[in-house]
Amino acid sequence: MKKIKNSIKLIATGTYIPEKVLTNFDLEKMVDTSDEWIVQRTGIKRRHIAEGEDTSDLATKAAINALEKVKYDKNLIDLIIVATFTPDYRSPGVSNLVQAKLGLSGNDITCFDINSGCTGMIYALEVASSLLNSGKYQHALVIGAEVMSKVIDFTDRNTCVLFGDGAGAFILENSDTENAYFYTTSCGELDKTLYVDRYIHMDGKKVYQFATAAVEKAILKVLNDLNLTINDIDKIIPHQANYRIIHSVAKSLNVALDKFFLNIDEYGNTSAASIAIALDEYLKSREKVSLEKILLVGFGSGFTYGAGLITL
Ligand code: UT7
Repeated sequence: MKKIKNSIKLIATGTYIPEKVLTNFDLEKMVDTSDEWIVQRTGIKRRHIAEGEDTSDLATKAAINALEKVKYDKNLIDLIIVATFTPDYRSPGVSNLVQAKLGLSGNDITCFDINSGCTGMIYALEVASSLLNSGKYQHALVIGAEVMSKVIDFTDRNTCVLFGDGAGAFILENSDTENAYFYTTSCGELDKTLYVDRYIHMDGKKVYQFATAAVEKAILKVLNDLNLTINDIDKIIPHQANYRIIHSVAKSLNVALDKFFLNIDEYGNTSAASIAIALDEYLKSREKVSLEKILLVGFGSGFTYGAGLITL
């Protein structure tokens, strides 16, 4: 793979989180678990669950949230990419449904979905940036959206305490400076360590071991490719799967835990949506700073993993 930098501008971010909250105490009544176990092992306290809404509804509402923030003319959009593995249908894609739900049917828009597990948003950003920088596209909507509750077996305590529903959206345009860089990869695996059929199945311990190594490797790869050090990075927005994974990576990189933005306590693991939701929340939480370097990092089934640097 060649090291190619991208030139993109993050115009706005948006989110949509379903209202219904499922707490650890609610789960105590459903399976043999406890708030104490879940908080200690994962950092999760609550998660949000969609009721009567599918993935395209969440994705569209996150997009509208981003569009409204900057009063963006939705008719400019020429590219919609949705990262998800919980689509409404096998076909059409969520991206096509978002186009329709935004009232953009009939506009010339290239729409497709990306299924790269929980790393989907990093993959989607890499593809969107490359397409924008090709010069063919100018205004991209990149969305991570999941209704995980559709694929959760609420009698399986190994998985049902971990996941939540939500969506996050980015509006991207081309910029004049090479200010972004993405690294995406996959291990490929035939073992059924993490997969989704009717339900999500997972060997938690194996995923945990993979994740701690992969997150660190992806961060170091991007830093190395760009001749940066961890001190050049203002904030790391990781895939929100387990507080302990982030804690372990922070320790081995020898950086303070607060270098990482964490909101897993409120949302659980929203899979391909988690990085988008976390970046939106981080941006809302801080004073506007120019030339801030943000590192996004994720991992997921496949096993996929990757990281991306964006400059705000
Ligand atoms: O987006 C990517 C997807 N997934 C992940 O990133 C998950 C990565 N893995 C993890 O986050 C952790 O491995 C888990 C949170 C899933 C599990 O934590 P752990 O410290 O690895 O626990 P464990 O699987 O070793 O299980 C320890 C014990 C077991 O009981 P025994 O065999 O020691 O008696 C489990 O049966 O905890 C039990 N256990 C539970 N107990 C209460 C498993 N799930 C639960 C539960 N409540 N929900």
